Amino acid sequence: MAQPRVSRHGEWSSRWVFILAATGSAVGLGNIWKFPYITGEHGGGAFVLIYLLCVALVGLPVMMAEILLGRRGRQSPMNTMRLLAEEAGASPRWAWVGWCGVLAGFLILSYYSVIAGWALAYVVRMASGIFIGADGQLAQAVFERFLADPEAVLGWHTLFMVMTMVVVARGVRGGLEQAVRLLMPALFLLLLLLVGYAMTTGAFDQGLRFLFNPDFSRLDPAAVLVAMGHAFFTLSLGMGAIMIYGSYMPQRASIAGASLAIAVADTLVALLAGMAIFPVVYANGLEPGAGPGLLFQTLPVAFGQMPAGVLFGTLFFVLVVFAAWTSAISLIEPAVTWLVENRGVRRLTACLWAGVATWLLGIGTVLSFNLWKEFTLFGLNFFGLLDFLTANLMLPLGGLAIALFVGWVMRERDVAEELALKGGLYRLWRWVLRYVTPVAVGIVFLHSVELI
Ligand code: TRP
Repeated sequence: MAQPRVSRHGEWSSRWVFILAATGSAVGLGNIWKFPYITGEHGGGAFVLIYLLCVALVGLPVMMAEILLGRRGRQSPMNTMRLLAEEAGASPRWAWVGWCGVLAGFLILSYYSVIAGWALAYVVRMASGIFIGADGQLAQAVFERFLADPEAVLGWHTLFMVMTMVVVARGVRGGLEQAVRLLMPALFLLLLLLVGYAMTTGAFDQGLRFLFNPDFSRLDPAAVLVAMGHAFFTLSLGMGAIMIYGSYMPQRASIAGASLAIAVADTLVALLAGMAIFPVVYANGLEPGAGPGLLFQTLPVAFGQMPAGVLFGTLFFVLVVFAAWTSAISLIEPAVTWLVENRGVRRLTACLWAGVATWLLGIGTVLSFNLWKEFTLFGLNFFGLLDFLTANLMLPLGGLAIALFVGWVMRERDVAEELALKGGLYRLWRWVLRYVTPVAVGIVFLHSVELI
């Protein structure tokens, strides 16, 4: 066996910490904010079914491949890809996968931070008690008034960016491990509490039917692309985030086991969020297709009506902020490691550059909900365009490249050695990665080109 490389940036203290950190990256706004609203926009059950299929057939195998690349290369995604391509006798241009990833992470964080800023603003609103006894209309009005105020939204976006860059500047492994260890289980418990409340609304069945009864007549054609894009987004795949986290993974830990744990936890959180939100939507005459504001227009109603709702509501949005925080860090970490490795700057300087650039671009998203609302291209505003470009195009393409590289370019001996998975399972994974994943991504892409 070849001598395993060691990362100059350090290593997680155990396999368990790797799983926690990667779950922290995966579980975020994608699960709690995005999954419910895109499910609402694309008709419910059938969309959820396709999303689950994409997680199992595309997401899980690609996650194993991406972690494997990271741990074998043990550097920033660009340098890892270049090194492993050289080892396989392939073109160093594979480093482009890393480049596109850094770009995608930067673009995603620019709007991710704005939405996380909304959650921060809601911590304060929840604590103020304005939602006590609120109905759907009031919650909607409060949300719309907030969005119409660009300065307030910008302020919260700024605060979240500062929070993110402070943690990244101190190095991912310091405070982060502790935060994830405590906060992820707390978030999970509060989601269970919310699902418990949803059961009392009288519309629980209707909500569940919407989520789990696939009605393919309600599925619009664009939905398949969105569902696949979301499988990558929610698992943090296709842009090097999980690769970087994998590069800090202990050599003896099982990649397949960790991937499965992360994917299951992530999916569970998304489904729980959906089960908490849709009953409230139906019980209060709200619109399932309300778009990005769905979370902020529904849960305040639930908290407004439950006992000790001010306390639980405030706590809930605090935990959403933490979930977003642990994800945001992984979006910018690849860019920062690259600046440190190849530009020779200090970590702090790298964070300043990356942070300021992301913050500036985020202003576009802030304005796309008020002053720039009218500016649209293909029916999408600035935020919508960024989201479409990254989640639906760049991440699946990145994931496809990773699948092709690990499935067809790397020497099989190296792949098998790094994965250390036994017999049948290994062959199944390899077959899915080589054939099913690329064909599935390809079909979805061709199909959407036809739509345009
Ligand atoms: N997965 C996170 C979420 O669901 C977002 C995220 C973090 C992400 N890192 C990523 C998305 C890398 C794509 C790529 O909120």
